[in-house]
Amino acid sequence: MRKFIYLDNAATSFPKPPQVRRAMMHFMEEVGANPGRSGHALSLEASRIVQNTRENLAGLFHVNDPTRIVFTLNVTESLNMVFSGFLREEDHVIVTAMEHNSVMRPLKYLENKGLIALSIAPCDRKGFLDLDELPKLLRKNTTLMVLNHASNVCGTIQDISAVRDAVGEVPLLVDAAQTAGCCPIDVEREGIDFLAFTGHKALLGPQGTGGLYIRKGLRLLPLKRGGTGSVSEKMEQPDFLPDAFESGTQNNVGIAGLGAGVDFILREGLPRIREHERSLTAAFLKELYDVPGLAVYGPLKAEEQTSTVAITFESFLPTGTENVFSGCGSINLGWLEEGLSPSEAGSLLSEEYDILVRTGLHCAPLAHQTLGTYPEGSIRLSMGYFNTLEEIKAAASAVRRIAGC
Ligand SMILES: Cc1ncc(COP(=O)(O)O)c(C=O)c1O
Repeated sequence: MRKFIYLDNAATSFPKPPQVRRAMMHFMEEVGANPGRSGHALSLEASRIVQNTRENLAGLFHVNDPTRIVFTLNVTESLNMVFSGFLREEDHVIVTAMEHNSVMRPLKYLENKGLIALSIAPCDRKGFLDLDELPKLLRKNTTLMVLNHASNVCGTIQDISAVRDAVGEVPLLVDAAQTAGCCPIDVEREGIDFLAFTGHKALLGPQGTGGLYIRKGLRLLPLKRGGTGSVSEKMEQPDFLPDAFESGTQNNVGIAGLGAGVDFILREGLPRIREHERSLTAAFLKELYDVPGLAVYGPLKAEEQTSTVAITFESFLPTGTENVFSGCGSINLGWLEEGLSPSEAGSLLSEEYDILVRTGLHCAPLAHQTLGTYPEGSIRLSMGYFNTLEEIKAAASAVRRIAGC
């Protein structure tokens, strides 16, 4: 069988720990029942499994009360729940200039309908939020600050506590799609009001899982209403968590797998996971340091980013970009004089070297505008906990060869 080097973990993590598959098989083969619906043994066992996943997530994010975490299909759904259930007409929302379309599209829709006002807080060319400018955007009617915890394009990690300080009491929604499971998150200490996460990336769960943490005291209307298995005598939606937001049968097989993924992270220890990914990133950046005609985007410091690295092969480098290593060493630009588009480079990496990456705009055109890589986008190499140093060296060597070194 063809052996690939999978460097597309920012899109979805692969492989998953074997425990994840086993937990899903166990649910399918031995449990099967609908949790919270019936009183029989298998339904109770299904409820226990779902509760276990909720508790694992609460442990990971330092949530005191696990019922404040509700399950969703993915972070996109979690974000939409906040936008549609929390915002009111004439509210003002601030986002960063590094957001994903999962944030931008629903908010642009509300803005274009004249329902909300939207401000984009500037970020520098490395993707860091300008914390001096941010407070200047606050208005009397600012009701939400949305923060991409780490960029899915170049890995830049924002300082949540500093953003909390900069916006005062304004409710803070953190899109933790790229950090949940690989970077420490403490909702209490960092003052997070809503934490939106997806299960299939660094949390190591299956696709079709995700969740939202909702701080106590915040009023949120549900996106969906319907059967919850609780207070069935009432035709009104229950107002207690998690039932208020979990109408209809959930992806319980997936939730079982997610629980096993988070269990793996807790047993392994988040610091160990972070350190492994940090060391791979540091090694990769070091290898790319002197490649001619190569631009690398983001902080270029493994401590300040996730294990996602964005590059472009170009004959010219964006002006004013300090965060770029440009050519030294032997010059063999050849076709690079014309530039090599991200999609061409991605095809080369995949077809010639069996290295799987993602190219283009990564659903984040705003972030690419900030980094100076719009509209072509970049080549994104995103590492995960199961990548090895050997694989990273092979990827760096492939990049160097494509650059003509
Ligand atoms: C920062 C960020 N937000 C949101 C999403 C959307 O994730 P999902 O497709 O799991 O909803 C992604 C996925 O790439 C992401 O990286």
